[in-house]
Order: sequence, then structure tokens, then C-alpha cells
Amino acid sequence: MCGIVGYVGPQDAPPLLIEGLARLEYRGYDSAGLAVLTDRDKLRVVKRAGRVRDLVEHLPPGFGGHTGIGHTRWATHGPATDVNAHPHTDATGRVAVVHNGILDNAYELRARLAADGVELVSDTDTEVIAHLVGRSQAATLQEKVAEALGQVHGTWGLAVLHADHPGEIVAARNGSPLILGVGNGEMYVASDLAAIVRHTTTVVLLDDGELASVTERGFSTTGGKAAAEIDVDPAAYETGEHESFMLKEILEQPETAARVLQGRLDDRFGTTHLGGLEMTPHESRAFRRVKVLGCGSAYYVGEMGAGLIEELARIPAHAEPASEFRYRNPIVERDTLYVAVSQSGETLDTLLAVEEIKRKGGRVIGLVNVVGSAIARACDGGIYLHAGPEVAVASTKAVTNMFLGFALLALHLGRVRDLSVADGKRLVAGLEALPDQIAEILERQDELAEVADELAKAESLFFIGRVRGYPVAREGAQKFKEISYRHAEAYPASELKHGPLALISPTMPTVVIVPDDDLASRNVGALEEIAARGGPLVVITQPGVDLGGVQVTRIDVPASEVELAPILLTIPLQLLAYRAALALGHDIDKPRNLAKSVTVE
Ligand code: G6P
Repeated sequence: MCGIVGYVGPQDAPPLLIEGLARLEYRGYDSAGLAVLTDRDKLRVVKRAGRVRDLVEHLPPGFGGHTGIGHTRWATHGPATDVNAHPHTDATGRVAVVHNGILDNAYELRARLAADGVELVSDTDTEVIAHLVGRSQAATLQEKVAEALGQVHGTWGLAVLHADHPGEIVAARNGSPLILGVGNGEMYVASDLAAIVRHTTTVVLLDDGELASVTERGFSTTGGKAAAEIDVDPAAYETGEHESFMLKEILEQPETAARVLQGRLDDRFGTTHLGGLEMTPHESRAFRRVKVLGCGSAYYVGEMGAGLIEELARIPAHAEPASEFRYRNPIVERDTLYVAVSQSGETLDTLLAVEEIKRKGGRVIGLVNVVGSAIARACDGGIYLHAGPEVAVASTKAVTNMFLGFALLALHLGRVRDLSVADGKRLVAGLEALPDQIAEILERQDELAEVADELAKAESLFFIGRVRGYPVAREGAQKFKEISYRHAEAYPASELKHGPLALISPTMPTVVIVPDDDLASRNVGALEEIAARGGPLVVITQPGVDLGGVQVTRIDVPASEVELAPILLTIPLQLLAYRAALALGHDIDKPRNLAKSVTVE
């Protein structure tokens, strides 16, 4: 949601903090701020609503120091205003706090502080921490922060400066990621590797409940952590020659798709090797149902995955938004395999769903991209997606790898049941062909630009599909609305005539997903119904499909094994959304009101 960066060392902190914040903006971007300790041990804060670039324009002259913290915010408590932006300070102006997460008892603590005569200036929960640290009589800054955190309930990743403790940052984590970066005679604090990866890849991953004291000489943590080198390519966090992360990530897909499959396909027996599942074949056979949980795109691809599992393993499989599941006192069954899907591994609704399943004795595996993330750690096992860091808010390469993760899982569950070796081999070959087929679609991206320009003109659009085409339509509509801000709504193709057909007109285009399966001719029926009412049609389909004489704009993806068609049909939808947003002049990587990972309820 929000981003944190901190620096202590010989360099002037603000330029480093600003650079770090700019790299974290994808996580949240409605306000930003900095606090530094000056060489005279004074605390200076500058913060404002808007983007990091707005903050840069308003940095006062001489704003510098060797110890500093910064924050980029996505509003939860209180609107995006200058006052609500982080860092927050205590009443004396000697303590500054940046915080990700939510305090559950902020209201009570605010009332208690107010009763004690403390004037709270913002609407935020975070300000409470600054006051509590400022009022602590403990000797060290770490003890002060520990004492403050002892009084709050909730989640935090935070960093604290105190004018009485120059040259030190205290960091703490509980439910919101926080890492330390070890430089040469300097140290960093960050909520995300993206902020510091250009400076160091030697990091310390804090655990929940852990605190750390950081100075330019080094660090100590309450858990006694040591630093470790991580294997990451800093270029993954740069747009390089591309105009946006979204385009870069779309174009990376042939490579990233190959990566999730690598070493996991077994040609000989038509099955998969998924050591991370931590499951014997005997255990895999015992499940009678599969329940998939995720949010946003992860939920839609979860629907595609549930369809694959039903087809290949012939066990009932169903996807549900994790947020709905966790709020309805779910029945957790012993013979159901629960699958949590998440790019970030941080989405709070998904994490809390996993925790609820575990509390009730269920078995849950994760399809997660970020290694070691909260959801990955909370699951009993899983399949890492290996898509590499995804920065654009609109998920593309991670969605593709989620689908491929499901294909691997479905193949495994199928082959321990009744899926034949021949069918297994057919699917293994189909999966091996996918990266090149994705590349083929991407090579034709310019062809899609014209179609996207037309779609961008419409205020409102339908995306429709049937059975395996329907979740594709849902993901297509999601992508389109996220970045074009057009009203894009998905329907099962047959449902159209049960109501939405009333909206069809020459100004309301419909994007229709038509895989080359045994339902193709039924889909042609839906096309005719729309065409008869003058609705413009864009059809994403495959070469074998005969659309009859209906007037449409046709986009073909390569022929594939029928079960794998959904992911190929998804790729043009990414490009259409991207090109439409480009035509409309939107900020593609940072769509309004959204954040990359939603770590609040
Ligand atoms: C946010 C993003 C969506 C994303 C969803 C799930 O809502 O805006 O694009 O699909 O979170 O994120 P996850 O990291 O769990 O896949």
C-alpha cells in the first residue's frame, strides 16, 4: 500500500530518500513526505498531498541531513492531505514516524492522548505512535519504540527518528514488510526491495514482532538477525527502454512464462514435479474438492485455475474472492485443498483467509510470486510463480504465471487421478509451446493499437465469454477498467440476453472471448444477437473458429490445447487495455485510486 525508505550514512539523505520513494510510488501515491535529522540534531519534516515529484518541488532550501526517513502514502485513515501525509511527529516535534499498516486501537489511544492534553493534528492512526514514542521515558530509542508498540494493536512496518538519538533509525515490523539494507558504511531501511536495490543487495528481512536499531556503523535486531545476500537483478526495477513498467512486463512474458515451467514438467510420464507442494501422491489423491482464494486479478485467474482443475482432475473446484470467504465464517473441510493466489503475497484479505483456514485445521497451498512473503510463509506449501518483480499496478506477467501455476497443479492432481499419460503428455507439450505462442501474440501488438483506439472512445464496454472464456472476459474487463477508467463489465455470454442486452447499441462495444472449443458455435449465436442490435464486436478467438458471416473485428491467438486457451486469449486483452489507456493519456503504471498491494482490510 504505502512505501517506506530510510537512510543513515555519510551521504546527504534527501536525494536518496526521494529516489527510493519514486521507486516505491507504485505501492501508493496520494501523498509523500520526508523527515531528516540535521547536523545540529534538529528534526525537519516536509510532506504534502500529491506525487513524489510535487514533494521535490516543495523541498525547502538547505533541507539536508545524514539520517532520514521517507514515505509515500495510499490513504486509509483520513483523506490525502498535507497534514495526513507521513512522517508524523509528536507534540515536541522531536520524533518522526513513517508507518505502513493499520492500528486497530488508534481511536482509543487518540482519546487517551487527547484526555492527557495532547493535541492531535492529523486524522491518522500513525500520529499516535509518534506521541507515544515522544512521551516514553525509556533510555534508548529502541526501548522507546518498543514501549509505544506495546500499547498499540494492529499491523505495522515502521521507521522512527528522534532528535535526542542522532544518527539512528529504529525500524519495526508486524504484518507489514520491512527490510534493512546493508551498505558500505551506510544503512538503508525499506518496505520493499525496489527502494534500495540499486544501492545494496545485502539485506535483513525483519520478522513480525521484530525491532531493529540502525546506525551508519551497522544494525542490531531483537531477533539477532544476520544480513544475507539476495539474488535479484536491479534491472527488474527499471523500465529500461520501455515507456512503462506495464509494457515492459507484458513483453517479458515469453521469458517469465518459461521460468515458471522450468524443471517442473515431466515429458515421460506426462506429469509435473512440484516439490514445493510438500504433498505425497497419496495426500494429493485424498482431496475431494478444491477451493481457490484471491483478490482482483488473482481471483479471476483463480476462476480459470478452478476450471482447469475440474477438467483435468475431475474434482469440484471453485474460486471465491478471499475477502468474501473470510467474512462469512467459512466451512473449512478436511478433504478440501485450499489454494491462495497472490502476486505480492501481502494482500491482507488473502492472508487473513489463509489464517482462518489454518485456524480451522484446513490445508492451504500458495501460488505466490514474492518469495518469503507473508502469504507464502503462512501456507503449508505451494508453487512459486517466478515472474520476477512486478511493478505496474495492473498485473500481467504474474497473472500469466498464476495460470501456468494452476496448469501445473491441475496436471498433478489429474495425473494422480484419472488423467491418462497420453493426455498428460499432450498438456506437457501444450505448456512447453506456450512461451513461444505468447511471443507470437506480442509481436503483433501494433495491430491491436487501432482496435484499442476505437474501444477507448466508448464510455462503456461489455466483455463476455462462456465457461472457460468467462474468467478471461472478467480479467479482460478488470484490466481495461483499471487503467482506462472506462466502464468495462464482464458477463457470461448466455446471461447477456437475460438483461444486459438492453444496453447494446452502436456506442457500446462488446469484446467476446471465443476459444476453439465445443462451445464456439454457441458463441457465434451470441455474436449474432449483439450484431442484430448494432453493437460493435471485437472477437478474441483462435484460427479454427468459424464466426459465420457476423461483422466483427477479429483477433486470433495461436491454436493451443483447448484447456490452455484461456491464457493465450488473455494476452491480447492486456495489450488492448494498455493501448487504450495510452490513447487516453493515462498514467499507466499508477492508475488513479489503486495501489499495487492492498495490505489493509
Ligand atoms: C490489488 C491490485 C490488483 C491485484 C490485487 C491482488 O487490488 O490493484 O491488481 O490483482 O490487489 O493482489 P495480489 O498481490 O494478492 O495478487
